[in-house]
Amino acid sequence: MMFKIANKQILAKDVKRLDVKAPLIAARVLPGQFVMIITSEGGKWIPMAVAESEPMRGLITFIFQEVGPATIELGAMTIGEEIFSIIGPLGQPAVIEKSGVIVCLATGVGTAHILPICKALKKAGNKVIGIIGAKTKSSLTLEPQMRISCNRLLITTEDGTYERRGLASEMLKDILSTEVVRKVYTVGSVDMMQAVCRLTKDKSIKTYVQLQPAMSCGIGNCGSCRVRVEGKVVLACVSGPLFDGHNVNFEHYKTRLAAYRQNEIDPQQQEADEMTRSITKFFPGLLGK
Ligand code: FES
Repeated sequence: MMFKIANKQILAKDVKRLDVKAPLIAARVLPGQFVMIITSEGGKWIPMAVAESEPMRGLITFIFQEVGPATIELGAMTIGEEIFSIIGPLGQPAVIEKSGVIVCLATGVGTAHILPICKALKKAGNKVIGIIGAKTKSSLTLEPQMRISCNRLLITTEDGTYERRGLASEMLKDILSTEVVRKVYTVGSVDMMQAVCRLTKDKSIKTYVQLQPAMSCGIGNCGSCRVRVEGKVVLACVSGPLFDGHNVNFEHYKTRLAAYRQNEIDPQQQEADEMTRSITKFFPGLLGK
C-alpha cells in the first residue's frame, strides 16, 4: 500500500504542507489523533499530526517543520512520489462537546495540531477563541484556516512584526479577564503549555495539553513515549497525546525530552529498526512493498 503525495506547499521557512492519498485513514481520523509514517524503506518511523482530512477525496494533510533527517527527507519529497508507509489513526481523539467559550492556543507548527480541534469544537456549537503565536511574521502558519475554524482569532509575534507583540500565553491572560472560559486546548513548547496551565489552574479551567515525546512505534510497544500523569507513568501514544495539563508532571516530561535529544542518533535508529519489525507484526500488510 503506497501513499501518493497529491499536493505540496511551502508555508514558511522549513515548514511544509503535504496532501497525501490515504483514503482509509481520511475516513476514520478524528481531531487529536495522529499517524506514524515512514518515508522510505529502512527509514525511521515518525509521528505526524493530521492537520486536515478530506474523506471524499481520500486525502490527509501533514504540516510539519523540518527538524531532523526524517522530516527533511519527507520535506524533500515531491508531488507524485509515494510515502513508504503510514499507519493510523492512532491515539485518543480530543473530547469534543458543547461547553461554551473555549480557547485553543498554539504556537509554531502546533497550529497544525490544534486546527482540527478548533473546527470540531466550533461545529459542536462552542464559541472558539483561537490564539496563535510565532517568533516572527514569516514563521506564522495557517492563519486563513484558523480564521475560518474559530469564532475569533488573535495573533501574537514575539518580535512584533505582525499583530500584537508578545507571547501567546500573555494573550490568554487578557482573554481570561474578559470571558468566562470553560476549557482550554494548547499545543506548543513545554514552557508555553506550563504557563497556560498556571493561568488556568487558579480559575479551575479544564486544560488539555498535547504532549509530543519521542515516539518510535505509536502503538504502545516500545515505551519511548512514557510520560508521568496523575503520578502514574502512561504511554502518550496510547493514552494521549492530549492530557489534562493540571495533572502532567512537566519536569519529568522535560527530562524525557532532553534525554531523547542527547541520544537521538544511534539509539533512535536501533529503535526504529526494532519498531519496524513490531509494526510489521501488529499490522501485517500495512507496510509498503
Ligand atoms: S511510541 Fe508509545 S510505546 Fe512506542
